[in-house]
Amino acid sequence: MTELLNGKQIALDIKKEICEEIEKIKHKKKRLPHLGIILSGNNVESIIYVNRKIKECNNIGISCSLVELPKHSSEKTILQEIHKMNNHPLIDGFIIQLPIEPHINVDNLILSINPEKDVDGFHPANFGKMALNMNTFFPATAYGIIKLLQKYKIKISGKHTVVIGRSRIVGLPISILMSRKHFLGNSTVTLTHTYTNNLYVYTKQADIIIVAVGIPGFLTGNMIKKGAILIDVGINKINKEMKTMLKGDIDFDSVFGKASYITPVPGGIGPMTIMMLIKNTIKAAYKRLSSN
Ligand code: GUN
Repeated sequence: MTELLNGKQIALDIKKEICEEIEKIKHKKKRLPHLGIILSGNNVESIIYVNRKIKECNNIGISCSLVELPKHSSEKTILQEIHKMNNHPLIDGFIIQLPIEPHINVDNLILSINPEKDVDGFHPANFGKMALNMNTFFPATAYGIIKLLQKYKIKISGKHTVVIGRSRIVGLPISILMSRKHFLGNSTVTLTHTYTNNLYVYTKQADIIIVAVGIPGFLTGNMIKKGAILIDVGINKINKEMKTMLKGDIDFDSVFGKASYITPVPGGIGPMTIMMLIKNTIKAAYKRLSSN
């Protein structure tokens, strides 16, 4: 039997908790948390994700400012917008929606974000703190995966986790979070990537597999052991029978019945990510309020 990890429902539960927190802030007549988003270029997926983020901020009642920059904007122009967000008195935290166009050096952008406002947790100062088990912002998708496993009371400690993909957005941070010395960690992690030989040798041994590669149906039933817990981070658009559909990085049909748990696509990790970003923004706002 395979049970679905219903990220959509858990995200709704978290949203309810966040709304209660926002009500308390309103009651105290304090300023509402404010998220900034920089969107450069016209990547269709990015536009959809950003619109979802804005919509959730509006639903929850926190402020959100979007800066849209045209395709081919220069690195200098984006850096200027980052500088403005860093110095904006009302913006508590902000993100630069990724991916960014290839002529831009992403590292330069991330390094120029004030770590106190880096609600993506991508700045090396925050990434380092995360690795060292210090208090910081966790990258939203990785944080969402941990929260979902926690809500379903799935034991991570002592388990063998195989992460497929080592992106800064998902693979790298989730491998750190799963392995750190913390009750929501303590897993033995194998981080695999394009250069891993015989991937199935690792996935066959895994208790938990987290797939973030952006290839539809990449992980198949013959690559997993019975009872494995599967986390699918992929959201791939495919055309099937004249319709556009979303498909994850896991071949759902071939693992269903063999895995013990799986996150569906859509309705798995995606909704969790947005809630974790909003949680990070509220955390940044509290920090700024307490230091003023
Ligand atoms: N693109 C896809 N996921 C993310 C994310 O979590 N943060 C940013 N900044 N860009 C993304």
